[in-house]
Amino acid sequence: MFTPEMMASVRKVEATREQRMKSEPARMSAEEKEALLQAFHPDYCKDGFVEIKIGPNKGEKVPLELGKLLHSNSRLLDVTLDLSKPEYDVDVLIIGGGGAGAAAAIEAHEAGANVCLVTKLRIGDANTMMAEGGIQAADKPGDSPVQHYLDAFGGGHFAARPELLRRLVMEAPDAIRWLNDLGVMFDKDENGDMITTHGGGTSRKRMHACKDYSGAEIMRTLRDEVINRKIPVIEFTSGIELIKDTNGRVAGCVLLNMETGEYSVARAKTVILATGGAGRLHYRSFPTSNHYGATADGLVMGYRAGAPLLYQDTIQYHPTGVAYPSQLFGALVTEKVRSLGAMLVNAEGEAFMHPLETRDVSAAAIIRECSERGKGVTTPLGSGVWLDTPMIEILGGEGTIERRIPAMLRMYLNYGIDMRKQPILVYPTLHYQNGGLEIGGDGFTKVMDNLLVAGEAVGGIHGRNRLMGNSLLDIIVFGRNAGKAAAAKSKSVELGELTLAHVESYRDELAAAGATEEGVSPLLLPQYARHENKSCSF
Ligand code: FUM
Repeated sequence: MFTPEMMASVRKVEATREQRMKSEPARMSAEEKEALLQAFHPDYCKDGFVEIKIGPNKGEKVPLELGKLLHSNSRLLDVTLDLSKPEYDVDVLIIGGGGAGAAAAIEAHEAGANVCLVTKLRIGDANTMMAEGGIQAADKPGDSPVQHYLDAFGGGHFAARPELLRRLVMEAPDAIRWLNDLGVMFDKDENGDMITTHGGGTSRKRMHACKDYSGAEIMRTLRDEVINRKIPVIEFTSGIELIKDTNGRVAGCVLLNMETGEYSVARAKTVILATGGAGRLHYRSFPTSNHYGATADGLVMGYRAGAPLLYQDTIQYHPTGVAYPSQLFGALVTEKVRSLGAMLVNAEGEAFMHPLETRDVSAAAIIRECSERGKGVTTPLGSGVWLDTPMIEILGGEGTIERRIPAMLRMYLNYGIDMRKQPILVYPTLHYQNGGLEIGGDGFTKVMDNLLVAGEAVGGIHGRNRLMGNSLLDIIVFGRNAGKAAAAKSKSVELGELTLAHVESYRDELAAAGATEEGVSPLLLPQYARHENKSCSF
């Protein structure tokens, strides 16, 4: 399946393997990491960003593609809606059907609230489902939430909001227990103890996993629980604009049926934005590991309603996306492959870095290898470096790959590549938005006391770089918290008259700043989506 040129390079990888396995490359110093990031990480390339012209983050930078959406008008400007006759009227409205939304729905329902979950595709069509490697929690002897905090705080360049990171690590052990009790089939040893591994930047083995489909298994369980509880789920329906009341509180959301193009109004005492990430905006033309609907909708809706963003200029490029074969371009190759022992090796067979540096550093090192150093392997769509997967079988024994990362094995076997015997080619892929809407430790946005955000749409939990396994964790911790907090809050919320005046003000502000972009937002689906219903504007 590899080209003759690739095979020539594979021979070099094989020739150096024995020697490489005797001595792992050293970790980089802080100074080396900083210089590498400055020179090669996409976040540091000034031409990928634009200044935000209006709103709470005016004057700050944002990726070009997200900036365009923030500077576009609402889909509703020419639409007449009767806000006085809502089709739905609930205590807790959740926008987003991934892990955070589902966890929030379960807890809000448990607390007795009248809940409704809206999702633009099907429940579970989300980045949660795509997550592979695992979920962190310091729940073993020799580890502690403090240790977890220190790892994540350092890995995130000391920029995480302490109150958010504290909640993340302190509530992690309970999140694992909750998932286990709900029925998640975690990997366990013969004694029934959870098997844990390292991830990049972790000082302890605290990555709990369900082979290499951890996210799919967690989402399966959460989805079953939502369905079993008979929580109303409105599928193929997008939230497109938050509604406020005349007191400036959030009061619901305008919904768009993705199949018929019809609008409806949901009135809600509390709203949870759990809309996920932005990979399908393809920042800097990178491919992505994200699901089809990852278009930053919550960030756009929240910002237009006046909620500030935090760290909207920091993006995670997962170091190991598929570089070859082209059919899988950008798909995730889980970090667990490196946790299990595979080294990153260039076209000359040289291990050019420690395999478990943090993600931003690893991505920058791979980009340097393929650009400045000219030691990448040429592929039909660019270049890549080797991930020396046969090392896993040598280190862990025959059968380790099949046992621990079966989905990876099958994915490559479909294209005639047996990763037990041959290395695989990888290059960074757009994976995660580190930034998002700003919340306090209680999960509420700071400007509207009944608007909450959970999951990837939140900024500040991880700082400027996230460690592996802390995202599956944050959707559970902050999703559960948002559900509980929204249910409690809804008891004291009295809504005034519903209004979309903020949408018109936003339009006027854009025009006054001369910043109006063509098109409408939120985007909802990527530009290359098929638009079957020509009467719809999405
Ligand atoms: O590499 C991975 O399996 C990804 C995990 C994550 O983003 O947390």
